[in-house]
Amino acid sequence: GETHYHEFVVQATPVRRLCKTRNIITVDGQFPGPTLEVRNGDHLVVKVVNQARYNITLHWHGIHQQRTAWADGPVYVTQCPIRPGGNYTYRFTIERQEGTLWWHAHTSWLRATVYGALIIRPKEGFSYPFTIPKREFPLLLGEWWNVNPIHVVNRALRTGTAPNVSDAYTINGQPGDLYNCSEKNTVTIPVESGETNLLRVINSAMNQQLFFTVANHNLTVVATDASYVKPFITSVIMLGPGETTDVLITTDQPTARYYIAARAYASAENVDFDNTITTAILEYMSAIPCTETTAQSNCSRPIFPSLPAYNDTAAVTAFSRSLRSLSDNISVPTHIDENLFFMVGLGLNPCRINRSNCQGPNGTRFTASMNNVSFVLPSNFSILQAYYQGINGVFTTNFPPVPPTIFNYTGNVSRALWTPIPGTEAYRMKYGSTVQIVLQGTSIVEAEHHPIHLHGYDFYIIAEGFGNYDPETDPAKFNLVDPPLRNTMGVPVGGWAVIRFVADNPGAWFMHCHIDTHLTWGLGMIFLVDNGVGELESLLRPPSDLPQC
Ligand code: C2O
Repeated sequence: GETHYHEFVVQATPVRRLCKTRNIITVDGQFPGPTLEVRNGDHLVVKVVNQARYNITLHWHGIHQQRTAWADGPVYVTQCPIRPGGNYTYRFTIERQEGTLWWHAHTSWLRATVYGALIIRPKEGFSYPFTIPKREFPLLLGEWWNVNPIHVVNRALRTGTAPNVSDAYTINGQPGDLYNCSEKNTVTIPVESGETNLLRVINSAMNQQLFFTVANHNLTVVATDASYVKPFITSVIMLGPGETTDVLITTDQPTARYYIAARAYASAENVDFDNTITTAILEYMSAIPCTETTAQSNCSRPIFPSLPAYNDTAAVTAFSRSLRSLSDNISVPTHIDENLFFMVGLGLNPCRINRSNCQGPNGTRFTASMNNVSFVLPSNFSILQAYYQGINGVFTTNFPPVPPTIFNYTGNVSRALWTPIPGTEAYRMKYGSTVQIVLQGTSIVEAEHHPIHLHGYDFYIIAEGFGNYDPETDPAKFNLVDPPLRNTMGVPVGGWAVIRFVADNPGAWFMHCHIDTHLTWGLGMIFLVDNGVGELESLLRPPSDLPQC
C-alpha cells in the first residue's frame, strides 16, 4: 500500500454559528476537520501538533490498529495526552477494511469540534461490490453548543447533574436553514438527474442517536462501520454516535431541491434532548434556489421529508435487523473461550462528602457503569504503558465477567442496585481467545439505547432483543451465517445484544458507550489482550516517542 503523510495542527479558530462567534478547537482551522482518503492496505502517518491550550489525543474510530495499540488514541488508555506545545505522530496501517470511518479527539469533550471523515476505498485495481457511484459525499452529523463544550461537561461533573443539551444538530458543521442565522450556509449537495451517488453518513454527535433521511428518495444501504452489507432499500436510517452508514441514492426524481435531514432518536422519555431538525439540501443541477432576488415562480423551495417520531423505536429495530454481512462466507466463532455478560446502564450515587457535588435527583449524582463498575481513567500513566512497563497500582484486572448480582435488569429495580463502585478495572484475555459478550441494558434510573463501541476490533452482532436476555431460549435466535460486522453495537432500549469476536490484537482496548455523557459518567471498561507467542506478537512494545505523563 501507499503511505499518506499528514500534519494536523490543533488550534483555536473563530467560527460563527447560530448568530454567535466562538473560538473552537479545530484541526488546521477546519470545521469539520480534514477528510482522510486512503485505500485498503495503505499506511497513514499523521503528525499531530498541539497549538491549543488543552491536552489532546486523536482516535481513529474503527481502525483495527492491528499490532499498533499505541496509535489508537484514547487518553490515559493507550497514551498520555499531547500537551499544549507538544506533538505525536500516529503511524498505522489499514488492514482488511473498506468503507467509511472517522477520526476524533479522545480527551474530555474536545471531540465536539475536533473530528473528520476517514474514507477507505478498495485496493488499486479493485472496485466496490455495488454500482460505481458517480459522486461521493461524506456527511458528518454533529452537535453544536453556543458555549465551550468543555465547560458544559466540567459543570456537569462538578454538580453531579446531566450536561446541558446542545443548541443545534449539524450536517458537515452547519445547522441548516431551519435554525437562526444559518440559512445562507446550509450545506448543498449538487447532483445531476439519473445518476447514482454514495452518501457516507457518520454520526459524530456527542450524545444523540439520529434518524437520517432524504426527501422523496430511497436509500440503498451498502455498508456500516466500514464493512459491506447485503444491500437493502429504506427511506430512513438511524445512527448512534460513532456509527457510520454508507447509502446509495439514485437521482430519479423531478428536478428540484430536496431536504437531507436528521433529527433525534430519543429512547428515554425523561432525558432531555433537542427535538429540532438539521438540514442540508440535495440540489438537482438547474434547480434554482429561492433568494430575495429570484422570482417566486421559477425558484424551488426544498421539499420536506417525513421523519420518524423522536421515540419511534420500531423504526430503529426494523433498520438494525435488516443489516446482514454481504458475504455468507464468514467465520463467526462457534467455540467460545470467554463467555461474558455485561450489564450496561445508568445509576445514581449518594453524596458522602460535598453536597454541592450532588445536585442530581434527590441530592444524588449521576453515574453509569458496566457490571456495576463505574470506569475511572487513570491520571498519571496510561493503562497500556503501565501494562507493558509492569507498573503496579494504575489499574486492576478484576473487572467482573458477569454482574455481581442477578436481578430483573429491565424491570423495576431496587434502589440498592443503583450505586456502582468507581474503579479502573480491566478484563485480561489470552491472545486468540474467542469471545462472546451479552450486553444487557438496564432500566436503572432510565432505560436507554446505548451505542457500545469497542476499540481495536470489529465484532459480529449475532442477536438483539428486548427485555432480559434468556440463556435458555435466546441462543436459538443467533445468526451465525451473515451477522453484520461492526465496531459499535446499539444495545436496544430496555433490551440486549450479543456480540462475538476473536481477541487476536494485543493491547489495551477501551469498550464504552459512545454517548459522551454516559462515558463521562463511567460507562466503560478495558480489555487487556496479551501479546501472542509468535515472533511478531511476542516482541510488541509501545514506541519510545509515545507521550509520557
Ligand atoms: Cu469513537 Cu472511544 O471512541
